[in-house]
Amino acid sequence: MAGHRNKGNPGLMGWIDDRFPATALWDDHLAKYYAPKNFNFWYFFGSLALLVLVNQIVTGIWLTMSYNPTAEGAFASLEYIMRDVEYGWLLRYMHSTGASAFFVVIYLHMFRGLMYGSYRKPRELVWIFGMTIYLALMAEAFMGYLLPWGQMSYWGAQVIVSLFGAIPVIGPDLQQWIRGDYLISGITLNRFFALHVVALPIVILALVVLHIIALHEVGSNNPDGIEIHDNLDENGIPKDGIPFHPYYSVKDLVGVGVFLFVFSIIVFFFPEGGGYMIERPNFEPANALKTPDHIAPVWYFTAFYAMLRAVTFNLFGLDAKFWGVVVMGAAIAILFVLPWLDRSPVKSMRYKGWISKTYLIVFAISFVILSVLGVLPATDARTLVAQICTVLYFGYFLLMPFYTRLESTKPVPQRVTG
Ligand code: HEM
Repeated sequence: MAGHRNKGNPGLMGWIDDRFPATALWDDHLAKYYAPKNFNFWYFFGSLALLVLVNQIVTGIWLTMSYNPTAEGAFASLEYIMRDVEYGWLLRYMHSTGASAFFVVIYLHMFRGLMYGSYRKPRELVWIFGMTIYLALMAEAFMGYLLPWGQMSYWGAQVIVSLFGAIPVIGPDLQQWIRGDYLISGITLNRFFALHVVALPIVILALVVLHIIALHEVGSNNPDGIEIHDNLDENGIPKDGIPFHPYYSVKDLVGVGVFLFVFSIIVFFFPEGGGYMIERPNFEPANALKTPDHIAPVWYFTAFYAMLRAVTFNLFGLDAKFWGVVVMGAAIAILFVLPWLDRSPVKSMRYKGWISKTYLIVFAISFVILSVLGVLPATDARTLVAQICTVLYFGYFLLMPFYTRLESTKPVPQRVTG
């Protein structure tokens, strides 16, 4: 560790560095963190995820100041925030749009990882911390969605919590334990509020720190999938590396500018996202005696929801709902072991063979189709399409050890290109 840097120097920074490694941290993570010089558009999404995280925390803190986490008061407190609290409408829309933006950014960030093999050795832990963040984010978004206490909040939570009931033996008790009641009630709302505003944000923040520490330990991957630390100059600096600050700190501002432009258009002109970000039934207060005609989760969960509904058969004496939950869980779990499924001699799609390239596109299209199917009511034809896409989704991972070894790859250059 270079903790001795700038110690014993005069001035305020020297005084601080004698007591806290401020300069060493700045150097290690920014001014002397050498990142590959060939980062492209796909590398904007890590810093954008950080930006959205800050947005969610700041707007969330201010919303909490006026929100009332009780079954009697929650819905009305949101109306109060929207109408009476100064700029309350802006805080609320920045937070609700931020939730969707988070998942857009994260899905693109993950897709970049798939394209360039960023999950491969030595970045397995970067990927696993990332996947754990993704799980925590899903829990965070799910619990946040109950808080407005609208019809979709209530019935969405009802459907998802009831999935735990499909687990044999412990299911019914587990379901009741999660709700803290015999049905979704003010008690459930209270605990979801505590988890949403305190516990999960702490977990997510800690995981993001671990994610970045792990990344900076091994260094960033790049679109060529070449390890820049294998090619050092006489000072031990990667020949294909440039200091993160100022080069990428400034470049990332371009991404931030474009992102904020699109984000503002949505916040100011389309905050409900056509009913996909704030669903129509959520303008009605929760009513335990009235089920909405059609219940669907918010768009970022619908691919997994479609997989759940795609399982229509009982097996080994267990019903379809149980197997649906298994398939849904497996769809996420399989991403955790991805680093050990890819056996290709090369990392980046640029140098992989045609099977990997084609299948990545097929995989992405299947995921989008599943996401669309998940918002629509199920019909026989749609269920069949969902079943095909589910098989394609799993095939991408389960067949990976075979096709990545069989296909011929292109030679990887010594130094990064373009
Ligand atoms: C709050 C959520 C997250 C934040 C704030 C975050 C932040 C970052 C940042 C700042 C970087 C470095 C810049 C970049 O490469 O784009 C990065 C890299 C990376 N992240 Fe994340 N991340 C998050 C979630 C995830 C998730 C869900 C995954 C995957 C499951 C993931 C996988 C990766 C990988 C593999 C890299 C290294 C990429 C490379 O070097 O090519 N991250 N992340």
